[in-house]
Amino acid sequence: MGLLQGKRALVIGAGSGIGQATAKLFAEQGAQVVCGDLFGDLSQGTAQDITSAGGTAWSVVLDISVKTQVQATVARAVELMGGVDILVSTPFGNISMALEDLAEEQWDLEHAVLAKGTLFAIQAAVPVMRAQKAGVILVATASIFGDYGAFTHPAVFPAYGAAKGAQEMLIRVSAGMFALDGIRVCGVQPGFTLTQGAIKGLEDLGVPVDGFVAQAGAGMPMGPGQPADVAEGFLFLASDYASYINGYCLPVDGGSYAARFGRLLA
Ligand SMILES: NC(=O)c1ccc[n+]([C@@H]2O[C@H](COP(=O)([O-])OP(=O)(O)OC[C@H]3O[C@@H](n4cnc5c(N)ncnc54)[C@H](O)[C@@H]3O)[C@@H](O)[C@H]2O)c1
Repeated sequence: MGLLQGKRALVIGAGSGIGQATAKLFAEQGAQVVCGDLFGDLSQGTAQDITSAGGTAWSVVLDISVKTQVQATVARAVELMGGVDILVSTPFGNISMALEDLAEEQWDLEHAVLAKGTLFAIQAAVPVMRAQKAGVILVATASIFGDYGAFTHPAVFPAYGAAKGAQEMLIRVSAGMFALDGIRVCGVQPGFTLTQGAIKGLEDLGVPVDGFVAQAGAGMPMGPGQPADVAEGFLFLASDYASYINGYCLPVDGGSYAARFGRLLA
């Protein structure tokens, strides 16, 4: 029997990368999954992969930065599955820009997807989970960028880091606020993970993946992660094995967080 047998999961950002791997792993572990994404062809692809493998999944299109769309998605998930036991949010935004050059619109866009999106997901999920007296809300944050920021070339992400910090604070505040309703709220902090989003982010900077990894050196002790590695972190936190873990963000980064100053010593 799977770790999530009988559970009903909504994964937002399920069309690619970490969200896709999480949706698939949850389905393998017995959950029904509603796959939400900004791009319908991507969420549809993930849902089809799950159903082809014998699982149960549906596809929904939404923009997590639009509150009414998040509310409608949660309502649709309830309609399809009868409730939502687990909500996972993984949309990416990764505008790289030196702080002095960062335009207000870029700041707003990053915060709309990451910070407001997380707020809207929590706001939409809580009433459903409160009525069930149970639920888990999980957010992909970022290990080093969310806690310490990053200021070395080529990875200069002031808006991303600030929005990731906002996500982490929302997790902590919500965890305390909704614990008595039976709702846990946690985060997973991926290290550098080989996804379309991360690779495109580096390409936009004109940085090859190999060069980035080489530059990280001892600061990335186990090298880059795979989406499936991070999905396992989500699985653990979603499962009953994490039933007393609330309000924390779990780094799944091959030791990058622990070794964040490694590059200075290498
Ligand atoms: N990949 C990494 O190295 C890494 C490292 C640290 C943190 N993270 C975080 O993990 C999460 C997932 O990253 P990924 O690498 O899998 O990204 P990805 O780009 O491969 O996948 C993100 C998915 O979210 C969808 N999406 C984007 N904007 C959306 C929106 N407004 N509404 C709904 N869906 C939207 C995209 O279409 C895509 O399918 C992100 O929050 C990212 O910041 C990733």
